[in-house]
Amino acid sequence: MILSSNNTAAVALTSNHLHRAAAQYGTPLYLYDAAELDAALSRVRSAFGTARVYYAMKANPNLTLLRRLHAAGVGFECVSAGEIARAERIGAGGDSLLVNGPAKSDAEYAAGARLGATFIVDRAEEVGLLPPHSRALVRVNPALEISTHDHLATGAAGSKFGVTLAQAPAVLQALRDAGHTALGLHVHIGSAIRNAQDFTAAFARLADLRAETGPLAVLDAGGGWGLNADLPGIAREAQAVATVFGAELWVEPGRYLTAQAGTLLTRVVGTKQTGRSFVLVDAGMTELLRPMLYSAEHPVSALWEGEQSGTWDIAGPACESGDLLARDVTLPTPQRGNLLAIHEAGAYGAGMSSNYLTRSRPAEVLWEDGELKLMRRRETPEDVWAAEEMG
Ligand SMILES: Cc1ncc(COP(=O)(O)O)c(C=O)c1O
Repeated sequence: MILSSNNTAAVALTSNHLHRAAAQYGTPLYLYDAAELDAALSRVRSAFGTARVYYAMKANPNLTLLRRLHAAGVGFECVSAGEIARAERIGAGGDSLLVNGPAKSDAEYAAGARLGATFIVDRAEEVGLLPPHSRALVRVNPALEISTHDHLATGAAGSKFGVTLAQAPAVLQALRDAGHTALGLHVHIGSAIRNAQDFTAAFARLADLRAETGPLAVLDAGGGWGLNADLPGIAREAQAVATVFGAELWVEPGRYLTAQAGTLLTRVVGTKQTGRSFVLVDAGMTELLRPMLYSAEHPVSALWEGEQSGTWDIAGPACESGDLLARDVTLPTPQRGNLLAIHEAGAYGAGMSSNYLTRSRPAEVLWEDGELKLMRRRETPEDVWAAEEMG
């Protein structure tokens, strides 16, 4: 049985609850299951033992999620002034904050320094840009073939991230020479990685640097684990490379911690046959961009009964041909008003949602201890244009 954080038995989220949430808050709607959020963190903790966990906030920056993680002792990896402001808003700082990004602004350096964050240095030039006496890790690009969509590969040769393996020891030394604390190395090779061998290969390339770098305090092994990844296996490999450096292991999961807890609920608006069969729904690329951006495949459940009626493409309301949430899904005959659940939408769903077409971003709701709790209200058109009305 899954237990929720306060150790009361979690009430499993059923189809009835999904209907109730959609009726109460409308659709499209993001619904998160607190028990699954807790379970994902437990899986990470049991695989990675004492490693320090920094949640990559980009996966889902909702303040309620951040507060839950903060209370559980998780830190945050931030990549923008806005994300740093969110960390500050929930009282996170110091050891619980990493400031990362390939093109940090002056404001981001200043905010990170004010909060006592550790910086992840992405290129040699940053050594001279860091606030005085910063703590820093050096991000290394192991230049590998990575088994994920091109847009999700960050450790590939030719990607814009990190310094080369050859540059890394000199950048660590330059940090020390400039009076900073060079904590160690960082590697994050991409997101939704299919083949665990990629981690093994990346860690092996880092381990090869040991002769030049000497021992280090920290090895940050990043995130990017697939949802079905063998976490204990990745953890063993990550811990082994940390041990090579005599370093403490840090990790930065994003999607792994929130994806499976989240469901995007959307209602059928109608159907259409054009040679292909389309179910038109009230959510699309503005609420879940991953299928369009990364050709990501999300499992879909029909929340209505009936005979299976062939395969359907699930299409959103945007005037964009690419606005498809899923292809070739087998469904019972859909009718206007039926409810569809798009799964694994808790990461890079709400966080990547947009106001394109002046669409109001959906509400977000948490299912916790048998109750639905609003985490973000649905936007109104007035919210969307508020910054354009200047008096
Ligand atoms: C530096 C860094 N760390 C961690 C993550 C989290 O990746 P994921 O959500 O796939 O775990 C990202 C995502 O892009 C990242 O850029």
